Amino acid sequence: MTTTTLTHERSWVGVCPSGSLIPERGVAVLLPDGAQAALFRTFDGCLYAVGNVDPFSGAAVMSRGIVGDRGGEPTVASPMLKQVFSLRSGVCLDVEGVGLPVYAVRERGGRVEIAAEST
Ligand code: FES
Repeated sequence: MTTTTLTHERSWVGVCPSGSLIPERGVAVLLPDGAQAALFRTFDGCLYAVGNVDPFSGAAVMSRGIVGDRGGEPTVASPMLKQVFSLRSGVCLDVEGVGLPVYAVRERGGRVEIAAEST
C-alpha cells in the first residue's frame, strides 16, 4: 500500500463507492475549496488523484486524459495537447517545471476518499 504522511491539516472527502471506479477511466471531483481533482484507478488497483486543470490549456479536462505508463511510472496524458504527467508526482514528463497538484487518496469503508486541504 502507498502510505502518505500528512503534513498539513486535511480532511478526507468521500468521493464515490469503491466499486464504481472503472479502471483507467478518470472521474472529476469537486473539492470543498473549489479545486477540481481528477481521480483514477489503474489496472493494478492503485488510486491516484491529481489536479483536473490542464496547465497548458487551462481546461478542466485531465479526468478525461489517457492513462498510461512511461518506464514504469503511471501517467495521464492531457486530452488537449497530449502532454504526459506522472500520476504519482504530478510532474509533467514532457515539459520541465510544469506539474499538477497531487492529492492523497484512500479507500475506507467501501468508499474512495480524497484528502482536501481544510480551510
Ligand atoms: S500499492 Fe498501495 S495503492 Fe498501490
